[in-house]
Amino acid sequence: SAGAAGAGLALTGCLGGGGDGSETITIGSDIPYRPFEYETTDGELTGFDVDIAQAVFTDELGYEHEFVQTSFDTIIPSLNNGNFRVIMSAMTINDERDEEVDFSDPYFTAYQTIVVREDSDIASEEDMAGVRVGVQKGTTGAAAAQSLKEDLGGDLEINEYDQIPDAFSALLNNQVDAVINDNTVSAEFVNGEGEGQVRFVEGEGAASEAGQEAPPYLTLTVENYGIAFREDDDELLEEVNGALATIKDNGTYDEIYSEYFAG
Ligand code: ARG
Repeated sequence: SAGAAGAGLALTGCLGGGGDGSETITIGSDIPYRPFEYETTDGELTGFDVDIAQAVFTDELGYEHEFVQTSFDTIIPSLNNGNFRVIMSAMTINDERDEEVDFSDPYFTAYQTIVVREDSDIASEEDMAGVRVGVQKGTTGAAAAQSLKEDLGGDLEINEYDQIPDAFSALLNNQVDAVINDNTVSAEFVNGEGEGQVRFVEGEGAASEAGQEAPPYLTLTVENYGIAFREDDDELLEEVNGALATIKDNGTYDEIYSEYFAG
């Protein structure tokens, strides 16, 4: 029954769920979070999540879908208040959030990492003692900073920003000394806007401890992204898990992956 989007056929009686092209799934997301959800210079919404949403909700399941900008810090209450149907926002699956929402199967692995200015003396977690770190409010990066602060006996100043580009700007402007954030998003900044001015703190960490092929820099955590649903939305969740499995199987996922994470 999937894949009939836009066919204009009446699919009543079509078993297995999915949309008939008339139902719109609204997706709450904090934009920009490049390369997952961001606008091109032409103002077009794009990114890994944006393409996965198209593949899953529309191409596989036959729904219309629409992204809704929302603050990350309040994204779970917004979902549960009915402001949109699901969350797709490079959101890490964790126990605390799992008490308030249901997650799809994981669709991406990420690590918390530390970015510093090129000329920084910071070369380890211990070197973070006494410095100012920027994070996005309500994120697992903020949580990683908090736990590092505890490890450092409280000797870490955490500055929270509503959106990640503000934390990156603060790093370039010397208002913070480091940013803790998801690796691929920080990599985009290190190799893009911040090129020549910032770098990752190197070393081994959580990724290699977990036996994973580690990125070439220090990792504070290993995390998995999931799509979040209200706890009573089981039917849609099952459909989405099915569609995720399909696109992982048929090469669509890999195609999208290589568009954003080539090399
Ligand atoms: N993965 C992190 C978390 O779940 C950061 C996500 C931020 N996402 C965004 N679109 N701003 O907390």
